[in-house]
Amino acid sequence: MKYPSLVSDVLNSNELFDVLAWASARINLLGEHIDYNHGFVLPASIQFKTISGIKFNNKNEFRFSSDHHPIVSIEQIQKQSGDKAWVNYLLGVMDKFSQHGIAIPFFDCTILSNIPIGAGLSSSAALSCSFALALQNFLGLNFSLEELAKIAQWSEHEYAGVKCGLMDQTASLRGKASHVLVMDCLSNEVEYVPIQFLKEKLVLLDSGVKHMLDNSAYNKRRQSCEEGLSIIKSQFTNVHSFREVSLEMIQVIQNEEIKRRCQYVIQEIERTQLAVSVIKSKNIKALGSLMNATHHGLSKLYEVSCKEIDFIVEELQKSSSVLGARMMGAGFGGCVLALVNTSEFDRILPNLVENYNKTFAINLKHYEVTIDDASGCILQPIV
Ligand code: GLA
Repeated sequence: MKYPSLVSDVLNSNELFDVLAWASARINLLGEHIDYNHGFVLPASIQFKTISGIKFNNKNEFRFSSDHHPIVSIEQIQKQSGDKAWVNYLLGVMDKFSQHGIAIPFFDCTILSNIPIGAGLSSSAALSCSFALALQNFLGLNFSLEELAKIAQWSEHEYAGVKCGLMDQTASLRGKASHVLVMDCLSNEVEYVPIQFLKEKLVLLDSGVKHMLDNSAYNKRRQSCEEGLSIIKSQFTNVHSFREVSLEMIQVIQNEEIKRRCQYVIQEIERTQLAVSVIKSKNIKALGSLMNATHHGLSKLYEVSCKEIDFIVEELQKSSSVLGARMMGAGFGGCVLALVNTSEFDRILPNLVENYNKTFAINLKHYEVTIDDASGCILQPIV
């Protein structure tokens, strides 16, 4: 079997674990902020991975370390703060396993990752998902990947305080090479749709910006949508989710801000469904246009973009070598996802990097996307 390069590095280093498991970063082609609004999302797992390595210890404490953090020792599974807060993503998973009546022996856990941090590529989902997969194999359990994704999501809700949807965890664990996951966020069913480009490629442009307000702003967007939907439901009794809501119906909402949020959701659900047929018919140009329209909605109606991201998107959209560009992920910074013409893009990139640097004094990084298998696990003999 061919392992991801980070996994091969660990195996070659001769460091011994009882279990090694990995999960991926993700992109999302379309369907932003739609998972918790029960529409459809189109994520894919990519080449960047996080690995969790676990081995038994006899120290009466759980010990966690990562390539970014020194060892944290924990005697009891409970929420941490300050320097130890990063282990909350893992403790939440352990708490959920315990709630299922599963006894967890003490262990050492090491985390390694090559996912760019703060880039909106869901490094937190990859962290909790790789750990959930490692812990399940360490304990000999057999939750499905869908169940593990839900456990990781619970951890994010209860231990990290982000009321996220299930998209990141699903892509992080269940993505497949060269495929987009079409996820129905009402049933959580997943369809794998092949995606391959001939003359184009997907590129991530990392704004290098992470605004601190994002958790509370994220939860607030979710709350506004819930409020909007409940107003609509009170007037239209046949409405169960945003899927049955039309633009006419949102006129019953008085609050203009909530109305804008709902407008974005309805339009994005429609765009996502269109995108599925466009991908199936390999109409790459149309996919690019949908991405552009999504950015407009995210920036003007959902208001989760920021000046740096808008700058990158606008610069990209000016060029004929870019088919589509939009902010990706929760927003307020992170990455722009661009669908570009392979041969021409490299020509325009230096200019963009220079203009961005002149305007914001930030070095614009970029990553070419490879859609890659999401997750895996290796059991090693105990030595
Ligand atoms: C974050 C959340 C996801 C999703 C995206 C926005 O990544 O974790 O559940 O809502 O934002 O699409």
